[in-house]
Amino acid sequence: MNAPIAIRTATPADVGALRALHAASLRRLATPFYGAPVVEAFIATGTVPEELIADGTLFVATQGDTLLGCAGWTTRLPGYAALGGKVAPGATVRSVYVHPGHARQGLGRRLMDWVEGEMLCAGHRQATLLAMLSGVPLYRRLGWHDGEAVTVRLPGGLPVGALHMAKILAAGQAPLAIAA
Ligand SMILES: CC(C)(COP(=O)(O)OP(=O)(O)OC[C@H]1O[C@@H](n2cnc3c(N)ncnc32)[C@H](O)[C@@H]1OP(=O)(O)O)[C@@H](O)C(=O)NCCC(=O)NCCS
Repeated sequence: MNAPIAIRTATPADVGALRALHAASLRRLATPFYGAPVVEAFIATGTVPEELIADGTLFVATQGDTLLGCAGWTTRLPGYAALGGKVAPGATVRSVYVHPGHARQGLGRRLMDWVEGEMLCAGHRQATLLAMLSGVPLYRRLGWHDGEAVTVRLPGGLPVGALHMAKILAAGQAPLAIAA
C-alpha cells in the first residue's frame, strides 16, 4: 500500500527536488499549452521561489520521501512583475505544481485549499494569482474569477500567455482590482 500523501512547509533541503518536480510538471502538463521552446525557456529562468521557502509560505505534498506537488503564497512582488506582469496588492498564490504521474487526482485542489487556508489565517480575505494557461481550468474549478489576459516575455523574448485571476477568500469582500 502507498504511504499517505501529507502536506508540510517546504525547507531549503527541498530545493533540488522542487526544481525536478517543476521541470517534470511543466514538460508534461504545460507543453500542450505553450510548446517545448517556451517551457524550456521558462524552466531555465529558475522556477523555485526560494524567498517563499525563507518566509515559510511554500508548501509541499509528500508521499514518504517523494515530493509530489507544491503551492505557496506571498505578499512579495512576484518575479513576473519584472517581465511586464501587472500585480495586485495583497496576497498572491505562487508556484502551483503537481507531478505529472499524480495529475487529476485532486492534489492540485488539496494544495490550493491548504494555501487559501493559510492566506485566510494570515488575515488575507482575498487573493490574486497570475495563471499559466495550464493552471486556468483548476483555478476556475476552485472558484477563481478571470481577470485580464496578458502576455509576459521571458528573458529571451519568448511570449507567455497568462491570465490574471482573483478570489474572495472570505464572504463580504468587494472584488480586488488588479492595479496597473
Ligand atoms: C494545474 C495543476 C497544478 C493541476 O493539478 P491537478 O492535481 O491535476 O488538479 P486536480 O486533480 O486537483 O484538479 C481539480 C479539478 O480542476 C480541474 N482541472 C485540473 N486540471 C485540469 C485540466 N488539465 N483540464 C481540465 N480541467 C482540469 C478539473 O475540474 C479537476 O477535477 P476533475 O479531475 O475531477 O475533473 C497541474 O496540471 C500542473 O502542475 N500543471 C503544470 C504546472 C502549472 O501549470 N501550474 C499552474 C501555474 S499558474
